[in-house]
Amino acid sequence: MKLTSRSVSLVPIVSTVAAAALGATLVVTATANAATTLGAAAAQSGRYYGTAVAAGKLGDSTYVNILNTEFNMVTAENEMKWDATEPNRGQFTYSSGDRILNQAVSNGKRVRGHALLWHQQEPGWAQRMEGSDLRQAMLNHVTQVATHYRGKIYAWDVVNEAFADGGSGGRRDSNLQRTGNDWIEAAFRAARAADPAAKLCYNDYNTDGINAKSTGVYNMVRDFKSRGVPIDCVGFQAHLTNNAPSDMRANLQRFADLGVDVQITELDIAGANQANAYAAVTKACLAVTRCTGITVWGIRDTDSWRRGENPLLFTGSGAKKPAYNAVLDALNAGGPGPTTTTTTTTTSNDPGPGDCTASVSLNQWGEGFVATVKVTAGSSALRGWRVTTTLSNGTVTNSWGANRSGTSGTVNWTNVDYNGSVPAGQSTEFGFQGAGSGSGLNPTCAAS
Ligand code: G3I
Repeated sequence: MKLTSRSVSLVPIVSTVAAAALGATLVVTATANAATTLGAAAAQSGRYYGTAVAAGKLGDSTYVNILNTEFNMVTAENEMKWDATEPNRGQFTYSSGDRILNQAVSNGKRVRGHALLWHQQEPGWAQRMEGSDLRQAMLNHVTQVATHYRGKIYAWDVVNEAFADGGSGGRRDSNLQRTGNDWIEAAFRAARAADPAAKLCYNDYNTDGINAKSTGVYNMVRDFKSRGVPIDCVGFQAHLTNNAPSDMRANLQRFADLGVDVQITELDIAGANQANAYAAVTKACLAVTRCTGITVWGIRDTDSWRRGENPLLFTGSGAKKPAYNAVLDALNAGGPGPTTTTTTTTTSNDPGPGDCTASVSLNQWGEGFVATVKVTAGSSALRGWRVTTTLSNGTVTNSWGANRSGTSGTVNWTNVDYNGSVPAGQSTEFGFQGAGSGSGLNPTCAAS
């Protein structure tokens, strides 16, 4: 084993070459300097910062550079929707969605799946269907698509925009709704059966503050939780103009208090007060421990579905806007979530051909932690890997991107389908959340 030094951007408070005599591990306890990218700034509190991606733009180098530098979560803007994935009944096409997923995963990002069922962008054949025939077709769609992406998706928008605008607090009319009021829970059950590891979300717009529509969604989520319908998260799109709702934080918190994660899923903000409004949305999320991340709906203003309104964080030429700096500053200022101490521990076993190293980045707060483990191939490609971690005073409660055996003490991790192949010198990541202390994880890696 050789000693590897890390964290040049950190200002050490206590720097301990631990166990130098053991020749194994350098431990640096530090407070982070201000992070310089959105993803890194959000990660300081265990959150992600994501963007919608269009497959057709992956050949644009300005776009891809910003994507790879700034964001650590990706949503396909259109490519995983029903019309894109099942243009003819029973014929599935995943090439554009796969392209986005593979680009994200090979650059160490996670993916939100969007969206299994939505009354818009139904393929023509489904638009012409009703009743039990449609019910069968839509559940088959959920099953097939979630199965195709099984193990690869952090969270699925299982159902999108099913509630009506205005004061009714009720469901929107659609051919999906007319198959029976239980269509949403049927979709969530089908998604859970197809991909048990993905978090399952309900996603909607104009639900960002407390109003009749968001209360309708709230009542549905409360009902689902009370009856054991598998729902894990609620997405708030946040297509806004000038201001964030003043009660956005309170709204996110009331959903979180039902026992679901909350996420800002399609953020864009038009208007002259843009930078302040972006800061306000960021702070609202940071103030809610279960707000796990924020996704903006595109990269440059010219990439936006609201193109004329310039609602995003980068100009058409790729320059950072004042709104970008407002978001970065707010993320760096943190919130009462998991923010305060960052400890980075790296171990290396000096990889040769077929070997690998593992390093861990740990966000520890009072009662829990999030660990992100990076697996790096040596001088030849990996076909599979096995990582061992040690948890002396903590317990794993949730994990992604790896199979696990054990929850405390010696915990073994192996690759899942999509991240076992790692080209020489390249990396992939998995992560886990835990209760207690995550110190002393000391990951070791072996090819399998
Ligand atoms: O790809 C075709 C292209 O071949 C054709 O020449 C062109 C002509 O109009 O259309 C192109 O498809 C368009 C597609 O975006 C890709 O640009 C569709 O017409 C257009 O309808 C589609 O719009 C998308 C919209 O959802 C569909 O309702 C937007 O890109 C996408 O940003 C938007 O995203 C939605 C979320 O999924 C749900 N929440 C609201 C959000 C904004 O509407």
